[in-house]
Amino acid sequence: MRRPIIAGNWKMNKTAAEARVLIQQIAPAAATRPDVDVVVCPPFTALHAAAYPDVARAAVQLGAQDMFWKDTGAYTGEVAPGMLLKLGCRYVIIGHSERRGRFGVLEPDFTPEVLSVFGETDATVQLKTHAAFRHGLTPIVCCGETLGERRAGRTDAVVTQQLEHGLEGVSADQARNLVIAYEPVWAIGTGEVCDPEEANRVCGVIRGALGRQFGDVAASIRIQYGGSVKATNAAAILSREEIDGALVGGASLVAEEFNQIVAAAPRR
Ligand code: PGA
Repeated sequence: MRRPIIAGNWKMNKTAAEARVLIQQIAPAAATRPDVDVVVCPPFTALHAAAYPDVARAAVQLGAQDMFWKDTGAYTGEVAPGMLLKLGCRYVIIGHSERRGRFGVLEPDFTPEVLSVFGETDATVQLKTHAAFRHGLTPIVCCGETLGERRAGRTDAVVTQQLEHGLEGVSADQARNLVIAYEPVWAIGTGEVCDPEEANRVCGVIRGALGRQFGDVAASIRIQYGGSVKATNAAAILSREEIDGALVGGASLVAEEFNQIVAAAPRR
């Protein structure tokens, strides 16, 4: 039995003060679902504020949106796994499509040169995933195809390759503590949700790939769907057999929306 996990990816939104307000608004609803892992991933600058209020501590767990793989050193602007742990983080999102420079919503001023700032690759995903396990953080490893890749019939191959490479060297034992987020790039921030049946199918493909990598452990790895999840479509998505939760962007910024998504998690 896989425990549902609903995570809010706040992206580049919310100051520390705003984070404190939002977490107070979602903690009571989260507390009514002790059978669900409710996670929020604020920007680095709001992690401390989000971790601080006592009301949230038990009901809402904390995650980061990214991290570097080294422990310390001359890496200007980077944040180390140990720093996140000390702030109370238990989760870290790794390889989000936006960090890979793959945006669901067109960014006309992002030239290829500018896009190279978002330089995540399967190789860096692999380094970060290993670093997360080394430090006892649970990685939420993202995968997903672009619209072009989907139209070319390459969806299954793309997600399989991202995971095979990104998770190379991870042991079956470590994989028990792995979360995967299937996020079709074309569905992120576009309002264009993937048909739940199709999302379920791809999550099944992902579980198959995990089975080849980790054997029986694959049956216990949680796979989230992400991409325009909101209160109105959450139940249809979360009720699918292969989908164990959601990674929620825009809708996680509005307490009422996020609370309804948490409430929509099936009681398994
Ligand atoms: P969205 O983002 O819910 O705003 O589409 C999801 C994500 O990128 O994690």
